[in-house]
Amino acid sequence: MYKEKVSAFAPATIANLAVGFDVLGYALQNIGDTVELIKNGKQLNRIVSIKNGENLPYEVEKNCCSVVIQKMQEKLNLYVGVDIYIQKGFEAKSGMGSSSASSAAAAMAYNELIGNPFSKEELIQFAAEGERIACGTAHADNVAPAIMGGLVLIHQENPFSLISLPIPKDLFVFVFFPRIEVKTADSRSVVGDTIPLKKASQQWAKLGAFVSSLYQEDLNLFSQSMQDLVVEEKRSILIPNFSEMKEIATNEKALSFGISGSGPSVFSIFNSREEAEYCRLKFEELFNKSDIQHQAYIEAFKVNEGAKLLNSVTI
Ligand code: HSE
Repeated sequence: MYKEKVSAFAPATIANLAVGFDVLGYALQNIGDTVELIKNGKQLNRIVSIKNGENLPYEVEKNCCSVVIQKMQEKLNLYVGVDIYIQKGFEAKSGMGSSSASSAAAAMAYNELIGNPFSKEELIQFAAEGERIACGTAHADNVAPAIMGGLVLIHQENPFSLISLPIPKDLFVFVFFPRIEVKTADSRSVVGDTIPLKKASQQWAKLGAFVSSLYQEDLNLFSQSMQDLVVEEKRSILIPNFSEMKEIATNEKALSFGISGSGPSVFSIFNSREEAEYCRLKFEELFNKSDIQHQAYIEAFKVNEGAKLLNSVTI
């Protein structure tokens, strides 16, 4: 039996984590989007409201939530139409996986509404279609952790296949969002399509070392390996005060500093909340010299839950 009404939450995410462009992603805990679906008795879907995301599209063929639902309907050849209510918990184009949080929540909620024909892992392919509509490519390094939670490595596409990685204990993640808009499509176009083989081999050595550091809980290796040799140089020019922030984070004992997803947000990992808070103060001092608004988030860096159902009503 179908549900009449379902709502789901999916978290913001940090894609790439510096060392794994397009293949690594991490689910945050405290920020994310909520999507509520109400069966409308028709075969068509409608976007009814988007709270805190007034610039996002209401056209069903352009909104990531309705596109995800449409793809699920096409796969099943089953068109149970829904009215869609989206509540954004953080800014679009921030580099924290805004479209993917909405896409993941929509996939989770629609699956529940129609009786869970898909596994959670299978939902990734549909949520990735939301990414395609939002930014031009169906990369899964935001939607996979947004659905599955934790820190995930996407080791295969078509269909997506994941490895959930462990996270060393007692670390903290600091995300800083300079409030300028960077579109993922633009941030991807500055990167280009090719990199020199030498750089590729250095980067995959770092990714291998990073994964090993997680299993060994080796924080020196974690810190040495969590580096981006591939896209940071090109993308950082889109981010105000990037080199200043990197210098501050390094001086303040960050284990790592890098661009969150396609930016402009950046992230840093610390051994303690105090160190993260101190770095946050320094970043705020830096940005308060300019008129760029900013937001900061500090959380424990740990395996968090991904998308979850909030409630559902069967009539
Ligand atoms: N891996 C993607 C990129 C994430 O870096 O372009 C975008 O959120």
